[in-house]
Amino acid sequence: MLEVSRLTSGYGSMQVLWDINLHVKENEIQIVLGANGSGKSTFLKVVMGLLPQWSGELKMNGADITPLTVADRVRGGLGYMSEQGIFPSLSVEENLKLGSLRTQNKSVADQIDHVYQRFPELKERRRATAGGLSGGQRKLVGIGRALIAEPKVLLMDEPSSGLSPRYVSEVIDRLAELRGGITLVIAEQNISFLTIADTVTVIEGGLTRFTGHIDDFTEDESLKEAFFGIAGH
Ligand SMILES: Nc1ncnc2c1ncn2[C@@H]1O[C@H](COP(=O)(O)OP(=O)(O)OP(=O)(O)O)[C@@H](O)[C@H]1O
Ligand SMILES: [Mg+2]
Repeated sequence: MLEVSRLTSGYGSMQVLWDINLHVKENEIQIVLGANGSGKSTFLKVVMGLLPQWSGELKMNGADITPLTVADRVRGGLGYMSEQGIFPSLSVEENLKLGSLRTQNKSVADQIDHVYQRFPELKERRRATAGGLSGGQRKLVGIGRALIAEPKVLLMDEPSSGLSPRYVSEVIDRLAELRGGITLVIAEQNISFLTIADTVTVIEGGLTRFTGHIDDFTEDESLKEAFFGIAGH
């Protein structure tokens, strides 16, 4: 579904990503683990087309997407949830509307209804200001906003960001419910997300330290050590 080989990128003349390699299969949940500053956000932005790719291969369903604009990648089924994920001063429904895609066959109202069916608590709070919701519900708005265009592959940048542990496990549960209908690539430094991972990629200093099945990851002692190191506890 998504294939990345030898990808490099950076800001100006500063290289940040040196060698990123990963494959994500259809309907798989892949966790991209890495410490602060390892390059997770940069990587997701390059895949989305928000930052230039310096070199390497980036393919979706076998086709090179490197030349495509952000808009074309979105039309091609790629979705993105930023670390903040929402516009806090807008209402829940306004946030969802901003995520909708006109090129879809469904009307905006139908797209929004679809998200409300999945997350009924958002419907109840549709007119509430998104920034005033609880941490877990705020994240749900961000997830709903990212899902509204019905992406095939959703890139999520640290869904745990800013959440207390209780809300983190709530968000993990909600993401687990999406399993089967969508491919998720979740950049995280919180190891709790490994509970829903099919595959894992570990990024360290812009290099791919590990990429593969979750079982191979958890069996590797040296990796676990590195990974508990990056988890910070
Ligand atoms: N806009 C930018 N301009 C210049 N350098 C940047 C920019 N954004 C990030 N960097 C640098 O790129 C490197 C990777 O940052 P990035 O944000 O991708 O890491 P991250 O893994 O997402 O970290 P975090 O866990 O803190 O979100 C860091 O050294 C960072 O300082
Ligand atoms: Mg980041």
